[in-house]
Amino acid sequence: MKIQNIKGTQDIFGNTAIQYQKIENLLITLAEKYGYSEFRTPILEYKKLFVRENDSSDIVQKQMYCLYDMGKRELALRPEGTPGVMRCVINSNLYKNISRIKAYYLGNFFRYERPKKFSYRQFTQFGIENIGNDNVYCDIETILLGFNILKQLGFKKIVLKINSLGDLESQKKYKNKLKNFFASHINCMCADCKKRFLQNPMRILDCKNEEDKKIIKNAPKITDSLNNNSLLKFQKILDLLKKLKITYVIDYFLVRGLDYYTHIVYEFFVNNEETAVGGGGHYDYLAQEIGEIELTGTGFSFGIERILMSLQKENLILCAKEINIEIIPINTNNFEKCFSVAEKIRKNTNFKTDIIFEKQKIKTLLSKAQKNETDFIIIIGDKEEKNKNITVKNMKTKEEITVSDNEIEKFFDSLYKNMDQK
Ligand code: HAM
Repeated sequence: MKIQNIKGTQDIFGNTAIQYQKIENLLITLAEKYGYSEFRTPILEYKKLFVRENDSSDIVQKQMYCLYDMGKRELALRPEGTPGVMRCVINSNLYKNISRIKAYYLGNFFRYERPKKFSYRQFTQFGIENIGNDNVYCDIETILLGFNILKQLGFKKIVLKINSLGDLESQKKYKNKLKNFFASHINCMCADCKKRFLQNPMRILDCKNEEDKKIIKNAPKITDSLNNNSLLKFQKILDLLKKLKITYVIDYFLVRGLDYYTHIVYEFFVNNEETAVGGGGHYDYLAQEIGEIELTGTGFSFGIERILMSLQKENLILCAKEINIEIIPINTNNFEKCFSVAEKIRKNTNFKTDIIFEKQKIKTLLSKAQKNETDFIIIIGDKEEKNKNITVKNMKTKEEITVSDNEIEKFFDSLYKNMDQK
């Protein structure tokens, strides 16, 4: 029986793995430049970390992977990173010693979504959380970082959709207005909307049902419910974005898929695509719900799979192909020299260097190397041992160069530098 991988998950290897690494390295480097440091929190958490009181989000309602362990504890595979980071900051008392915590994280997350082009059940997120500083400039700095990440990745068209959900007072007022508006429509809306109407009518705005969208189009806008403080904050952020030349589109119905946001929320889009590559916002009460303390935060996450797909669509492949070298010993008594040559290459270059231990005919090994797109072949036999040299064959140009043993390091050092500059 052939065992398949689980629907919505994928094996990542070869060139795709290299591309993941390139994207992830770029994201980490930039986040560190902005003062963020890495947080690694567990993949497995108590379910109650994510399912907080009155949570109406789809993620919590129907997309969580939940399980019981042997001790009958109710656990969940993390569907997102923000609550885990906040729990860690609270549990470790970090917030008591450091005035502002700037965390980044990279890892796998799990949501039971219908697998489709841009949605997986196991996916990779890179996220940042700026915790402990209730200042619009922190919101701006996180948006700026997100924007610069996409710019550095090479995307030409980046759209930032932004909205404000205001503070709790504004949200309460807005929910009432929405209840009044939807009361006469809700009977003919989808089952999810009926549930959302009772739990949190703001979530109705996130409905993807085409018929419901026609009704939602005429719903009241949140900006009409924002109190003065919330409006001022929103305006200040928009003014600063303009000054920083970050173009944005206000989307009055952007509520985001998670319940903890207050004030600013936003999503990043590239290449005119309909699915966001990343999103985030400000949250004032998550720490209170998790640890009964007052601590605000702001941040975003990018989906690496979505970024990679968008890069491929635009032909913005990040990695030049890696150089592969295969060293083929003719006999077992040539292994020692093969090891020594391989180590010299590994020391002086970033080339992938493999010694071929398989006992097969040279002809077969050469044709396999051709299929594997190997760049250089080095065959080492008794002749090379006796002459104290090696022959490096360029598999693309078929050119062969003989290099004496004491010139090997120098030869590969200059070959590497030459290729690096191309
Ligand atoms: P989110 O919008 O749920 O936000 O997810 C952020 C990004 O993760 C999405 O824009 C998308 O690129 C990627 N993503 C989400 N679900 C999937 C999936 N099923 N398959 C592939 N990619 C996916 C959050 O998770 C918040 N924690 C962001 C945040 C950080 N807010 C404040 N701080």
